[in-house]
Amino acid sequence: MRQKVTIVGAGNVGATAAQRLAEKELADVVLIDIIEGVAQGKSLDLAQAAPIEKHDACLTGTGDYEESAGSDIVIITAGVPRKPGMSRDDLLAINRGIVKNVVRQAARYSPESVLIMVSNPLDAMCHVAMEESGFAKSRVIGMAGVLDSARFRAFIAAELDVSVENVHALVLGGHGDTMVPLPRFSTVAGVPITELMTPERIGELVARTRVGGTEIIELLKTGSAYYAPAAAVVEMAESILKDKKKILPCAAYLEGEYGIDGLFAGVPVKLGTAGIEQIITLKLTKDEQKMLHNSAASVRELVEAMKNMS
Ligand code: APR
Repeated sequence: MRQKVTIVGAGNVGATAAQRLAEKELADVVLIDIIEGVAQGKSLDLAQAAPIEKHDACLTGTGDYEESAGSDIVIITAGVPRKPGMSRDDLLAINRGIVKNVVRQAARYSPESVLIMVSNPLDAMCHVAMEESGFAKSRVIGMAGVLDSARFRAFIAAELDVSVENVHALVLGGHGDTMVPLPRFSTVAGVPITELMTPERIGELVARTRVGGTEIIELLKTGSAYYAPAAAVVEMAESILKDKKKILPCAAYLEGEYGIDGLFAGVPVKLGTAGIEQIITLKLTKDEQKMLHNSAASVRELVEAMKNMS
């Protein structure tokens, strides 16, 4: 039987993710958007590329959640993106309202699905999604670490003039300026970058990674990044759909792991059919642990702020 992925929000990230999912023939894709005609138009356009791209994935655009029924994965990208000068946290109130509404409807029609959150501020939106869906923590996952790590990997590969395929990197924590890139766990063909670059240069790449999204917004001016975010969410979806059990950094609900309790934060997890099948606990140094807790504290602030919203 074919697998089915619903993407709520047929904007830049959503439509690009739909394209990648279809071209990789990972699943049939249902695109949903609140603006009449957008999801329908984009899915028709994507379907007409299929004969050229040689895939048989079925693409449907709709405003009706009934058509999303029985999805294996629901990806939530609905919301507004940042504009220059905005932080992800500035989107809290508006995207909270949107995410509440769309998750409730999507979860009703796909009660067995795995939810992958993309809307920002990411970690806070994962809390909203878990609450609204009532899903187990293993089935609510946030896309952030794969993207942040990919940015770090791209910078490392360019710096050392090596293939991106040789570079692995790890970024933990919340998806914001306090994210925690971990040079000790970032390697080129197995060699930690701490042996390949000066601490100063690593510091510069870490700093650029932390503001990687902002750098792109300032160039685009009208919206935020979407090619890499879409690629990241599709890597997560692929691991779940094919039960690959990849270890990827994702936002997961922590209950004591890393000394963090009752909060979503980016950590390495194993992704398979069941969603998050394992949270991987790394041995961090005191400094790394401190940075992770600092990042978690900023997520907690947003979660607390949401408690005072109607
Ligand atoms: N239901 C369905 N779709 C909605 C709703 C809703 N209630 N509200 C907004 N949308 C749709 C918009 O109509 C738009 O097509 O969500 C889409 C968002 O697309 P873009 O504006 O292009 O934003 P994008 O760059 O895709 O980012 C989406 O992901 O990376 C994050 O910060 C980013 O929160 C933002 C989200």
